[in-house]
Amino acid sequence: MTTKKTFYITTPIYYVNDAPHIGHAYTTLACDTMARYKRLSGYDVKFLTGTDEHGQKVEKAARDGGMEPQAFVNKVSQTFVHLAKEMKVTNDDFIRTTEPRHKQAAQALWKKLIDNGQIYLGSYAGWYSTRDEAFYAMSELVDGKAPTGAPVEWVEEPSYFFKLSAWGDKLLDFYEKNPDFIQPESRRNEVISFVKGGLHDLSVSRTSFKWGVPVPNDPDHVMYVWLDALTNYITALGYPDIGSDDFKKFWPESVHVVGKDILRFHAVYWPAFLMAAGLEPPKKVFAHGWWTNEGVKISKSLGNTIDPIELMETFGQDAVRYFLLREVSFGQDGDFSLQSMINRYNSDLANAYGNLVQRVLSFIYKQCEGKVPEHGKFTSEDKTLLNEAEVLPEILEKDMEHFAFHKYAEHIWQVIFKANQYVDEQKPWGLKTTDQARMKTILYVLAETIRKLALLTQPILPIASSQILDQFAVEDRTFDALEQSLMPGTPLPEPKGVFPRWVAN
Ligand code: MSP
Repeated sequence: MTTKKTFYITTPIYYVNDAPHIGHAYTTLACDTMARYKRLSGYDVKFLTGTDEHGQKVEKAARDGGMEPQAFVNKVSQTFVHLAKEMKVTNDDFIRTTEPRHKQAAQALWKKLIDNGQIYLGSYAGWYSTRDEAFYAMSELVDGKAPTGAPVEWVEEPSYFFKLSAWGDKLLDFYEKNPDFIQPESRRNEVISFVKGGLHDLSVSRTSFKWGVPVPNDPDHVMYVWLDALTNYITALGYPDIGSDDFKKFWPESVHVVGKDILRFHAVYWPAFLMAAGLEPPKKVFAHGWWTNEGVKISKSLGNTIDPIELMETFGQDAVRYFLLREVSFGQDGDFSLQSMINRYNSDLANAYGNLVQRVLSFIYKQCEGKVPEHGKFTSEDKTLLNEAEVLPEILEKDMEHFAFHKYAEHIWQVIFKANQYVDEQKPWGLKTTDQARMKTILYVLAETIRKLALLTQPILPIASSQILDQFAVEDRTFDALEQSLMPGTPLPEPKGVFPRWVAN
């Protein structure tokens, strides 16, 4: 029996204090693209997303909305479930931290840390930012605010502490032995210098409010929301049952994709908690950048948040996916603008990809009796194009290894541009009456190239790729099918256009 390679990918779990926006959609979309890519490559994939429902910030949002926290989180978490559905996200599970399975896992992890002598009772006196759900040292404050710009308040309360200070060297050793653990490289350096600066013990419980997972054997305390939240990644694998199928299969073969603002929690606290509990840290934490809107930082108070559902209603899911992944290098900050969205749509999707597929398919349908054409001997031009498509999967594999979604798209589009150029140079329609055999060979080369391209665009453009593959009557859609070729004589359905030009009205 051969066992499949496994791959576990997670989004951060989203705070339910507010409606989903483009930042949430972005992380989820990147994970979905990777999950689809790995499944097509033959991996056994688990893809997790969900909602972070405890803590002071969520409690405050519920009270501000005049609701009990549980009723409030039940309502808002559904907007995240809805977004995932609308985006055609292929998550295998959706975790909510208010679920019994999660409460059980978080408390079990706590008990393990207590048993291992990693948590002690003390009292906290210092600054706290509810917006960031983070503790800050006096030395970190900038003009009386958190380094993120969030307001802070003075907190003094009994608190349990995690012995983070004891884990600095072990973390540095772990980063050194696992150079790919934190990506991109620049972020890795930031984390290393933070840890080298010295770690303080971390307050991991609160007593001034109740909305959290109760600390086992001390109900006056609730667990600090980040310790609770990070545990979600193993709750979903069945923790505390580390003998469960999913735990054995997927831990620690895991990648956490996060925004740059929450890297420290994932790359410092989380591996320390896990090692302290006798568990292995995850394989990788990838931090992506932040989006601005027409050059301006996105914030609720400025009223410039971008609703991903509205955007998808205007341009379609595939186009929004393509834009977000293609427009910026994954890991860098990016700017959203309506004009660049329209430009990308028209140049890459309508004019390049859509047009290539449309003209080849409609020509084959009319001139080759609606069947995949027979081909003769290939010329060197034919072989060049066929070869471009043949070597593409290997290039793309490297791109995905580095989470370089923009490169993945760029490399595919280079071949799309070449295929369009080949059509212009070979002029198959001019051969209709003079050399039918050559015309058919050209069309075959194009059809086969498009088939390969459509297999490879599936992770970014799932809807359009599937429509294109339908139109070439392709059944096997895994990447194994890249090794095969179209069968001449296969009947094709009547072609329908993909990506019509976007015209402003
Ligand atoms: N609940 C925590 C995560 C816990 S994970 C164990 C959290 N939630 S969040 O809802 O505030 O943010 C979720 C993600 O959205 C973060 O990765 C954050 O970086 C991302 N984004 C929020 N605004 C963003 C942009 N403007 N652009 C890109 N991503 C941004 O943090």
